[in-house]
Amino acid sequence: MGLGIAYVAANVSRLPVVLMDISKEQTDKGLKFMDRLLEKDVAKEKITAEHAKGTRELVSATNSLSTLSDVDIVIEAASENLNIKTAIFRDLDAICKSDAILATNTSSISITKIAAATKKAEQVIGMHFMNPVPVMKLVEVIPGLATSDNVLQDTLALAESMGKTTTVAQDIPGFVANRLLMPYINEAVMLLESGVASAKDIDTTMKLGTNMPMGPLTLADFIGLDTCLAIQKVLHDNTGDSKYRPSVLLQKYVDAGWYGKKTGRGFYQY
Ligand code: CAA
Repeated sequence: MGLGIAYVAANVSRLPVVLMDISKEQTDKGLKFMDRLLEKDVAKEKITAEHAKGTRELVSATNSLSTLSDVDIVIEAASENLNIKTAIFRDLDAICKSDAILATNTSSISITKIAAATKKAEQVIGMHFMNPVPVMKLVEVIPGLATSDNVLQDTLALAESMGKTTTVAQDIPGFVANRLLMPYINEAVMLLESGVASAKDIDTTMKLGTNMPMGPLTLADFIGLDTCLAIQKVLHDNTGDSKYRPSVLLQKYVDAGWYGKKTGRGFYQY
């Protein structure tokens, strides 16, 4: 998702972007994917070759957080894991300018909790992009308990400059998008688990019956079953409500390393 965010910031907002990952292999892979996206957009005449060249020139890559000392905003898109995110925000707090906005693309973890890892909680905000970022039109914006109104307004303006529609949600587990989406996906997995219908029939019912672009199990494979489970655990652990309990089958698939599309196997084989 980080690559998708960088792509839209450079290609649509025309902002200089530094793509950061601890692994050079990942940043190289990301830049290659960006080249492919640009080539495709040029071939479809969505942008000119000159625009694509300009986009590419706006994007650089780094493998060290310390090079981000001068940026105006960081959009973190690491794994959906509280310990990883708080460690990153602790480092960003020490490295970035005091007025830099520190945004997280978390899909469910408390913004207030992430902000508490820093000494400038007023600068921390949730900027929840949807996958695939270049295609999906929404950014859910989530202020934490201490986020300043200026930071909220600047974040909304940035998302809109990226061509996105914004919504604002309070900092509750799952915000709005995943508070609704994850119980829906979990219920589909429970229907499969209890043998009510096949994966294909569950998906076809929702795809053709309710005009969803993909059925819930295909969507879960697309999001990543590990990510779905992590989000469902955040909902369950932080509300204590049994209605959010992740299904045993989802846990089993994740235990098996069947994470969906990215590993070649989930509810379907790829
Ligand atoms: N990056 C960039 N562009 C992509 C892409 C990617 N990873 N995947 C597809 N696209 C582009 C294609 O290039 C194509 O572009 P053009 O219109 O220029 O040709 C366009 O998207 C449509 O793609 P396809 O024709 O290949 O396939 P499709 O019509 O089936 O669309 C889809 C694919 C956009 C993924 C569509 O199936 C869809 O909207 N699915 C639902 C996605 C969804 O719900 N996402 C939200 C997940 S939840 C989330 O992200 C939040 C969370 O916290 C879990």
